[in-house]
Amino acid sequence: MHSFGHRLNGLLTFSVTILAIMCAIASLSDNLNTPSPTAEIKIMNINWFQKQPQGNDEVSLTMNISADLQSLFTWNTKQLFIFVAAEYETPKNSLNQVSLWDAIIPAKEHAKFWIHTSNKYRFVDQGNNLRGKKFNLTLHWHVMPKTGKMFADKIVMAGYSFPEEYR
Ligand SMILES: *[C@@H]1O[C@H](CO)[C@@H](O)[C@H](O)[C@H]1NC(C)=O
Ligand SMILES: *[C@@H]1O[C@H](CO)[C@@H](O)[C@H](O)[C@H]1NC(C)=O
Repeated sequence: MHSFGHRLNGLLTFSVTILAIMCAIASLSDNLNTPSPTAEIKIMNINWFQKQPQGNDEVSLTMNISADLQSLFTWNTKQLFIFVAAEYETPKNSLNQVSLWDAIIPAKEHAKFWIHTSNKYRFVDQGNNLRGKKFNLTLHWHVMPKTGKMFADKIVMAGYSFPEEYR
């Protein structure tokens, strides 16, 4: 005779199996989703641009960051972590990456936005390489899923440059 406990155990095992299958399907269907995020960053102002007493260039800028990241959200998406970085080459490093701003996007409703902001983190060069320097701005994102693997990607925006002179 089956005891109640035994049946309950069988039911639990069955539920856990179904849950595991659903999780697998969830992360699989996530991989099948081909998102089409867009972003644009305008530099509205160079607030100041100086060589610090230690000899490193530092710049403060105001940007208009606009993006539509709604297509990155599926029912399996918990949240997005996003950051904007300036990327440029110097004789010493082929890639200098300076994080300027970041945010957590908790839901799809918040994934289409624009923000007028100064750099949240200091933009300091390791040297005095910035005058007249060309750079890229990149919007990076990390998609944190409810289940399955986290994934990351970015949009690169090229064609920015610093002023020729300090100001
Ligand atoms: C920022 O950019 C967005 C999208 O291009 C635009 O709608 C908005 O008016 C801009 N904001 C400012 C302050 O320029
Ligand atoms: C800036 O972007 C351009 C075009 O995508 C790319 O060729 C170049 O390597 C980038 N520069 C840096 C320093 O990442």
